[in-house]
Amino acid sequence: MTADSDAPDKEKGASSQAAARLPFYGRRQGHKLRPARQDLIDTYLPTIRVDPRGSLVDLFPDRLKELWFEVGFGGGEHLAQQARAHPDIGFIGCEPFKNGVASLLSALKSHDVRNVRVYDDDARHLFAMLPEASLDRFFVLFPDPWPKTRHHKRRFINPENLNHIARLLKDGGALRVASDHMDYVRWALFHVLSHPDFEWTARRPGDWRTPPADWIATRYEEKALAGDRPAYLCFRRRRRSLGDGA
Ligand SMILES: C[S@@+](CC[C@H](N)C(=O)[O-])C[C@H]1O[C@@H](n2cnc3c(N)ncnc32)[C@H](O)[C@@H]1O
Repeated sequence: MTADSDAPDKEKGASSQAAARLPFYGRRQGHKLRPARQDLIDTYLPTIRVDPRGSLVDLFPDRLKELWFEVGFGGGEHLAQQARAHPDIGFIGCEPFKNGVASLLSALKSHDVRNVRVYDDDARHLFAMLPEASLDRFFVLFPDPWPKTRHHKRRFINPENLNHIARLLKDGGALRVASDHMDYVRWALFHVLSHPDFEWTARRPGDWRTPPADWIATRYEEKALAGDRPAYLCFRRRRRSLGDGA
């Protein structure tokens, strides 16, 4: 789902200040949505949509055991299944691709899943609204690889986003990154392991080739399995030392 263009997206979000500062280069829409899917976007999405100017308390008024966050959920297979498997955990999923959002909404609606909130835009817009140490898990699954060197700066795993993720994760919180693009895997390992707040949880050689026990395959991953074997990178947020401010 990459767009091979240097021109940032010019649609709705791009008019806001945040979006102008953080250009999004991916696709926002594929084929025209069927009326039932469009109706989910028009009537259901507003009831569970995250307002970046709002607060976490308004988003999840009920007490939840944990809060998990997924960037770029694609068709939402992983998000919907994790949310069904963990009704006592709150989930925030972000995806600017409208057709993917509609797929997720359809799955949530048909299984009456109530613990998911959706942001139909760039995940980075939510970083400022989330308090320090508010997340238990952060998923970046099969991010756009941006293979050309001149596009590497668009990769989601980068020092700036890692600083945000480190601020948002609780001590011991998990960052999961999966990719079938080996250059991205090396890139992610280099950047995460260069960051002082993360450690890799792999114990044995080959650990990164085996998905964690509670792994749920995404649609992109199923396609990827026909080619290069994906890598599953699990990191832990290190404990904050006294004086870190959390
Ligand atoms: C290659 S697809 C993978 C989708 C899904 N995770 C899967 O495994 O099937 C990457 C997705 O990330 C989304 N994405 C890219 N940058 C994003 C951002 N800054 N915030 C939210 N989503 C983003 C894209 O729209 C795209 O749908």
